[in-house]
Amino acid sequence: MNSQKETPLLSAMQRYVEAGAIPFHTPGHKQGRGIHPLLEQVLGRQALAMDVSLMSELDDLHGPHSCIKEAQDLAAALYGADHSYFVVNGTTGGIHAMILTVAGPGDKIIVPRNVHRSVIGGMILSGAQPVFMQPATDHELGLAVGITPETLEDAIRRNADAKAVLFINPTYYGVAVDIGKMIELVHSYGMAVIVDEAHGPHLRFHERLPLQALDAGADIVAQSTHKLIGAMTQCSMVHCREGRIDISKLEAMLSLVQSTSPNYLLLASLDIARMQMATEGKKLLDQAIALADWVRSQINTIPGLYCFGEEKLGNPGMVYLDPTKITVTVTALGLTGTQAEQILRYQYKIQAELSDMYNVLFLITIGDGEAEARALLAALRGLAANHGEKKDFSAIRKITETCVLPIPEGVVLPRQALLGDAKSVLFEQSVGLICAEIVTFYPPGIPLLCPGERISAEMIGYCRQLQTIGLIVSGPDDTTLTTIKVVC
Ligand SMILES: Cc1ncc(COP(=O)(O)O)c(C=O)c1O
Repeated sequence: MNSQKETPLLSAMQRYVEAGAIPFHTPGHKQGRGIHPLLEQVLGRQALAMDVSLMSELDDLHGPHSCIKEAQDLAAALYGADHSYFVVNGTTGGIHAMILTVAGPGDKIIVPRNVHRSVIGGMILSGAQPVFMQPATDHELGLAVGITPETLEDAIRRNADAKAVLFINPTYYGVAVDIGKMIELVHSYGMAVIVDEAHGPHLRFHERLPLQALDAGADIVAQSTHKLIGAMTQCSMVHCREGRIDISKLEAMLSLVQSTSPNYLLLASLDIARMQMATEGKKLLDQAIALADWVRSQINTIPGLYCFGEEKLGNPGMVYLDPTKITVTVTALGLTGTQAEQILRYQYKIQAELSDMYNVLFLITIGDGEAEARALLAALRGLAANHGEKKDFSAIRKITETCVLPIPEGVVLPRQALLGDAKSVLFEQSVGLICAEIVTFYPPGIPLLCPGERISAEMIGYCRQLQTIGLIVSGPDDTTLTTIKVVC
């Protein structure tokens, strides 16, 4: 096996370019010769020369046997997997492939209700039947967090025929549960564990980070290498363990959801990101975590701002925390998170990762240093000192803390609801009809309706209440919810 210091895929690409073969192959720009100067200016000659294709010496993502296989094997060794795969359409593609591997038409998969849309996408592609678990909610933060062991056990007991359980490890905001115990329970029922670890490509490289699901016994995990470590946007990895899953089916499904012409620059970025983590991951994460600890403690000295940390651990669904996720709760300023994000962007030149009703999320990664951290803190001080508003969140808190409607009855599969005929009807006239889209309110970002579920009068009334107090709806085509799409 190659050493972790090597980058076999990148080296093969370099060898090909250095050999100077005259390219009568794709891509049509012929290593930059035919490219428009505008694109050359953006990408540079070297990158264009290395935008190569499927020559035999460059292997094949869909049947790797040489340099791609070597690069993937190094990733597997580093991540502790039996097999690792490079994915060029993000964790979205990885999640689609995982779901297609473990569940066919009508098979049940148990999933948290607050899953990323790619999970619903996987259900639509496979025809699987979701069984939803309600995640715990932190009402102070207005965020859905993890699944409790009790919720998981209840879902498994009621659905012992399910093929798999999907976990999110950790959430976008860095919150994780005791995944090891949960995986044990799922396996004891003979089900597979698949994990959306989009926000966990770095977990394995530092003891302060939550446990990587694969190390806790998960069967397949998908990680967005591009989100938090050094790969280019779109680049993810899928890792798996042998035993419970059909490896050749997983490979076939990864092949199904990916281009036959993967971009080699993207693939090389995965090879290099793996090498970087192997050779200096611990050191880089030491720095990022120390910086994030300092930023968190400084933010918590600014009147009107709160950045949650370890004091929350032990609450339902909150067992571990990725400290590099900096969630700043701005409600005490009388601002929404979205307003704060806009102010920070246009008055202080700080771009956050995202915002919601209560919070703004910032990522501290291996790419940050003290200067960036100081700029963020200066902007947050400016925000707190100069930009208070008068928004009163008490009505929102009252309703979101006290009212949790049961998950609606699933009548048809998401696949049928989305691929079949649908029509728009007035929301008030949709009682008893089957929803054909997702309706989610923020906070806390848990869908109230999913495709295939029956709409009740109670649900319509609750949505109207949420709208009246100013909650943001996301998902449906008509975001005023005057109309909703239903199955014909
Ligand atoms: C929890 C979660 N899962 C999956 C995805 C999809 O990942 P990607 O953007 O790599 O396709 C995201 C993207 O934001 C996410 O937040």
